[in-house]
Parts: sequence; structure tokens; C-alpha cells
Amino acid sequence: MNRIFSGIQPTNQLHLGNYLGALRNWVRLQDTAENFFCVVDLHALTVPQDPESLRRSTREVTAAFIAAGIDPERSVIFAQSTVPGHAELGWLLGTLTPMGWLNRMTQFKEKSGKHREESGLGLYSYPVLMAADILLYKGTHVPVGEDQKQHVELARDIAGAFNRRYGVEYFPLPEPVIQGQAARIMSLRDGSKKMSKSDESDYSRINLTDDADAIALKFRKAKSDSDNLPDTKDGLTGRPEAENLITIYAALSEQSVDQVVAQFAGSQFSKLKTELADLAVEKLAPIGARMRELMSDQAELDRLLKLGTERAAAVANPILRGAQDLMGL
Ligand code: ADP
Ligand code: NA
Repeated sequence: MNRIFSGIQPTNQLHLGNYLGALRNWVRLQDTAENFFCVVDLHALTVPQDPESLRRSTREVTAAFIAAGIDPERSVIFAQSTVPGHAELGWLLGTLTPMGWLNRMTQFKEKSGKHREESGLGLYSYPVLMAADILLYKGTHVPVGEDQKQHVELARDIAGAFNRRYGVEYFPLPEPVIQGQAARIMSLRDGSKKMSKSDESDYSRINLTDDADAIALKFRKAKSDSDNLPDTKDGLTGRPEAENLITIYAALSEQSVDQVVAQFAGSQFSKLKTELADLAVEKLAPIGARMRELMSDQAELDRLLKLGTERAAAVANPILRGAQDLMGL
């Protein structure tokens, strides 16, 4: 049986990119595998966090998982820090990871930017902890957006390094599962950047809890160019904003990009923006409403998280113990 591990950082509100690139696919995978869906709070700490906001976001992301359709009975939903094996295995795997491998990670380069010397060790070694997250469950498949593919490949390399060093096929080599056309949703303000929780501009993303007015306003303000929309998919080349909005429309309406291009051929951007806003409201409003309902009962969310922790630890602990034994600990 396939075993799936994936996570989302509790750093801010979840957005449309997280939904289309991750959550919606997770929901569909629930029937095909054993699933571990994790709120990766230790990863969130790689950039400064306000403690109260972090605690709140952890519950909010849990609520988003459930509101999007992840069933806490069928899938294991938990917070990373509540299973100490993540940090422990992270250390053990770090001893096997050459710095050269980490130096190649593009996300560190992007996130540290010009402040490389001042940025934290945790941000640098983040991919090692992510490898530990997956391998702690002997995960075989990792559904992620394009942005995380390189990290899953590193997890494969680290698993291979462990297996070679200790002479057994202990960890399976996890495979990235990149799903569909929505693997990379871009910022609404800048077609060259991905939509991200950490973008300073709130207009760059649609949050899952945005109301109809906010959604309409954000699409109205979305960057566009001055041409009408093209007649063919090829006409999207060199027009990242048009391509992004068409991609979002296609993903939300579960049509192909070709179909959506045909639907809006020759139209002005404003028509696409208005119809996209209506579609997004239709798809996101029920999720936002369910999230608010779940957030109003914190005790219940905490109970579900605790249940998830117990189920995750029951799988993780023997796997960690096995790795420690092999290493002489
Ligand atoms: P963020 O980058 O917004 O902080 P995370 O790093 O917590 O989000 O990513 C959580 C999941 O959402 C990952 O599987 C990631 O690949 C996916 N994801 C994040 N941003 C996007 C995006 N813009 N388009 C598609 N998928 C995305
Ligand atoms: Na990310």
C-alpha cells in the first residue's frame, strides 16, 4: 500500500495555490493510500513567528484540511512538533547530508536572498527536516506543488545515502506526485512569482477565508496586460498574467486550459476577472464557512489533533527506533 506524507506550514492564511496545488489533490488521494497530512509548525519557525499567531495558525490550517474535505477518520491529521521523532530523525539524517546538496536548493536561495549570512541554520537545513518528515513514516509518495519537487528529490537522495551507509534498504525512496495544471499558481500582482503565504502583498493571493467582496476586489486589481485574451493556448506565451488567470479558471471549473481559452477568446480581461471571481466565490465560500464553524470549537479541533498525534506516533516511533538501531544508538 502506498503511504503518503504531505504538509503545509501554519504561517498565514491558506490561499488558492495551497488549495489547488495541494489540498484538493490530497482529498482525492485519500481513497488510494494511507495518508499522513501534517501541519508543519517546526518548518514555520525557520522564519520569525509570533507564538500566539503560530498557535492560532496551526488550528486554522487543521480546520482548512478538514473543511477542504480531508476526513480525520480516514487520514492522519496532526502537528509536526507533537511527534518528536521528526526533529530527532532530522538530526540523524543531517549527519548523512553533504552541504553541497543543500547549497543547490533554490528555495533557500530565494528565501534568504541577499541576507544569506544572517539567515538561520534552520532555513538552510529545512530540506533535511522535510526528508525526515517523509522518511519517519517510510512514506512512498509525496503530493506537492512544483515548488517542492526539488526537496522531495533531496529526500530520495538522503534515503539512498542512509540505505547505502547502513547496507539495507531501510527507507523507500519517496516519489513526488505533482498533480495537474494547478501545480503552480502565480501571484495576482506579479506573474513571475508564485502565489505564497509569505508574500507581503495581501492582494497577491486569494485566501480560503476571503469573502465574496475581497475575492472580487483582488481579481479586479490583479495585474493584467492591455491586449484582449487570445484565441489559442499558444497566444498565452509571454503573457504570464493571462496564463495564470486562465489556469486558475480551468482548475476551479475542472476544464482544460484549451476549453477555457476558447470560452474567453477575444474577450477583455475584465470579463475573465468577473467570471473568475464568481467561480472562486462559488467554490471557496463553502470551505470558508466550514472553516469558521470548525474554528469556533477549539476543543474539538484540539481533540482531533491529539488523536492524529497518537496515530502518527504509533507509526513513527518504531521506524525511528529501527533507524537508531542501525546507526548504533
Ligand atoms: P507557502 O509557499 O504558501 O508558504 P507551503 O510552503 O506551506 O506554502 O506549501 C504547502 C503546499 O502548497 C505545498 O505542497 C506546496 O507545493 C503547495 N503550494 C504552495 N504555493 C503554491 C502555489 N502557488 N501553487 C501551487 N501549489 C502551491
Ligand atoms: Na513553499
